[in-house]
Amino acid sequence: MTEQSPALDNLLTESRTFPPSEDFASRANATADWYAKGDEDRDAFWAEQAHRLHWDTEWSQVVDWSDAPFAKWFVGGKLNVAYNCVDRHVEAGHGDQVAIHWVGEPGDTRDLTYADLKREVSKAANALLSLGVSANDRVAIQLQMVPEAIVAMLACARIGALHSVVFGGFSPSALRQRVDDAEAKVVITSDGQYRRGKAAPMKANVDEALEGAESVEKVLVVRRTGDDLDAEVPWTEGRDVWWHELVDGQSEEHTPEAFDSEHPLYILYTSGTTGKPKGILHTSGGYLTQAAYTHNAVFDHKPGEDVYWCTADIGWVTGHSYIVYGPLANRATQVVYEGTPNTPHEGRHWEIVQKYKVSIYYTAPTLIRTFMKWGADIPAKYDLSSLRVLGSVGEPINPEAWMWYRENIGAERCPIVDTWWQTETGAIMISPLPGVTSTKPGSAQRPLPGISAKVVDDKGDEVGKGGGGYLVLDKPWPAMLRGIWGDNERYRDTYWSRFADQGYYFAGDGAKYDADGDVWLLGRVDDVMNISGHRISTTEVESALVSHPTVAEAAVVGATDPTTGQGIVAFVILRGGAEGGGDEAIQELRNHVAKEIGPIAKPRQIMVVPELPKTRSGKIMRRLLRDVAENREVGDVTTLADSSVMDLISSGLKTGGDE
Ligand code: PRX
Repeated sequence: MTEQSPALDNLLTESRTFPPSEDFASRANATADWYAKGDEDRDAFWAEQAHRLHWDTEWSQVVDWSDAPFAKWFVGGKLNVAYNCVDRHVEAGHGDQVAIHWVGEPGDTRDLTYADLKREVSKAANALLSLGVSANDRVAIQLQMVPEAIVAMLACARIGALHSVVFGGFSPSALRQRVDDAEAKVVITSDGQYRRGKAAPMKANVDEALEGAESVEKVLVVRRTGDDLDAEVPWTEGRDVWWHELVDGQSEEHTPEAFDSEHPLYILYTSGTTGKPKGILHTSGGYLTQAAYTHNAVFDHKPGEDVYWCTADIGWVTGHSYIVYGPLANRATQVVYEGTPNTPHEGRHWEIVQKYKVSIYYTAPTLIRTFMKWGADIPAKYDLSSLRVLGSVGEPINPEAWMWYRENIGAERCPIVDTWWQTETGAIMISPLPGVTSTKPGSAQRPLPGISAKVVDDKGDEVGKGGGGYLVLDKPWPAMLRGIWGDNERYRDTYWSRFADQGYYFAGDGAKYDADGDVWLLGRVDDVMNISGHRISTTEVESALVSHPTVAEAAVVGATDPTTGQGIVAFVILRGGAEGGGDEAIQELRNHVAKEIGPIAKPRQIMVVPELPKTRSGKIMRRLLRDVAENREVGDVTTLADSSVMDLISSGLKTGGDE
C-alpha cells in the first residue's frame, strides 16, 4: 500500500451544512466580527470578556505566560467567584428570578430563586467556617444532583476553600484515593440517593472509604432518602453532622471576601494512563471569565428569557462549568434533574423540557444515541417547541446522531453546537457560534474567538486542508488548568512534552481539517487503528456504521491481524425494532462502511451486541472490547457504569452474532 501517513488518514466526507436562520443570527449574542477581534488583540478581547464579571480590584496585566506552562490570568485582579454567581444578581434586582428548577427522580420538585440561593450559600459558608474550614483548605463533595451539591460548591468558593467533587457513583476506594491526594478536611455527602426508582445508600460507602482517613475532621450529611432507605445510616459521633442541623441554623449574612484572580477554585480528578487519577487544578478569575463567556456565546443565552438545561452530573467538568459557574455567572434560569433519563419512562427528559419550556438543551452523544435506540416516537409525543439551541459534548458526535438530534429534537430549526473541550481546558474551546456558523453534522468546526488551536503532524507542523494529525493548543487560554495537584512534573510530562519545542499543549486527541478548514475530532490518539499502514480513526468507522438505518450505536477497535497489522472489529447495537443479526445483514453493514469510507475501512468482523461497555461519564471502554476481539480474558471492569455489560457481550458472542 502507500507509505504510512504521519498522522491520521482523512476518510469520511460530509457535505451537508445548515446556516442559522436570519432571525436567530440578527439576535445572536456573538457575531462574526468577534473572530477578528480575538485574533487582532487577544488581550483586549479577553479583558472585555472579563469585564462582564464584577472585580473588587482591577488587574494590571491580562496574561503572564513568562513561567510557561504555568499561566497567570488577570494578574493582580481580585474577585469573589460566588458573589459573581449569586449576590450581584440579587443586588441588581433579580432576587426573584428562579435560578434552579430542581426535579427529583421520584417526582418531587423545588424552585430556588437567586435570593434563595444567596441565603443558602451564605448559610453553608458560615457552616463550613464553623467546622474550621478556611481559605485554601480542601473539601471533598460526593453528592448526587441535589441543590445542596451546587450550594456546597459555591459555599467553598465563597470562603476560598477548594472543592473536589467526586462523582456520586464512584466506589469507596476511588473516593478515598481522591480524599487522600487532596488531604480533604471535610467531606460532604448524603444519606442515600435515588437511582432508577430505588433508594440506595451513599453515606455507608463514604464511611467505608473514610476508615482511617487522617485528613478528614468532619462529614456533613445531607438528608435525601430518609426513611426510604432500608438500612440505618451509619454515624460516627463527633465527626458526622447533619446538613439540616448545622446549616439551617446559620446566619443568612455572610460577607464575601475578594480573592486573588489566581486563587485556586477547585480540583477535579480525571483518569490518567497510569492508575493514579490526576487532580486537575483550576483557579478563579480566568476560569470564571471563560466559563461565562462561552456559556454566553456558544449557547446564545439570554438572562431572564431562556430556560437552560445541561444534563451532565456535577461530578464531571461539564457540571462544574456549565451547571454551576458559567450559567450562574450569567444569571441563567436552569433545570437540574436528579435522576436517570428512563425513570420512570423513556420520555422523562422531553416531559421536563415541555413542563419548564426549556430553550437550551446541552447533552452528550451517548445519550443522543440512546434516545435513537429508544425510538423517535418517544420525543414526538411531547411539545418541544420551546427549544432553540441544542448542544453536544464529551465525544465526537456521529453525523447521523447529529442529524437525528436535529430532526427529532430540534425540529430542523435549532442550531446544534458540538463543543470540544476537556477537564483540563476548563471551558469550551472549539465549537460553532450558533448565530454565525453554518453547522456541519459531526464537526466542532472552529476554535472560538479568542482561542487558538491547530492540527499538526508528528513534527508539530500544521497540516493543510484535508490533512489529519494531532490537536494542539498553541496559545494559553484563561480557563486552562494551572497544573496537576501536587505534581508539577507530571503536568509538564503529560501535556507539554510531546511538542515541547513548539511549546504546544497536546490534548491527546486526533483531529483533521476538511476541505473548508473546519476541525473534526477523531477520538483519542490511543484509539487510532493501523490497518495496512493506514492510520484510521475509530470515530470515522463508527460514524459510517451509525449512518446505516439499522444501527443505533457502534464501537470499533483494532485487533491484531496477521496480514494487515490490525483488523477492524466492530460492535453494534441495532435501532429499536431493527432486525440485523443475520449473515446477510452483517455483510450489508460491512459493504456500507466500504462504500461510505473506502474498502480499507471495511470491518473484518461485526458483532451485534445488546449493550456497550461505558464509563460512568459515557465514554466507550475500547480496551475491554479489544480484549474480546483478540480473544483475551477481559481486563479490569471496575470503572464501568454497569459491570454486567461485559458478561452480556461475551455470552451473546458465544451464541452467534460473529460472522
Ligand atoms: O477526546 C475528547 C472528548 O473528551 C475528552 C475530554 O474528556 P473530559 O475531560 O472527560 O471532558 C469531557 C467534557 C468536556 C477530549 O479529549 N471530547 C469532548 N468533547 C468532544 C470530544 N470529542 C469530540 N467532540 C467533542 N465535542
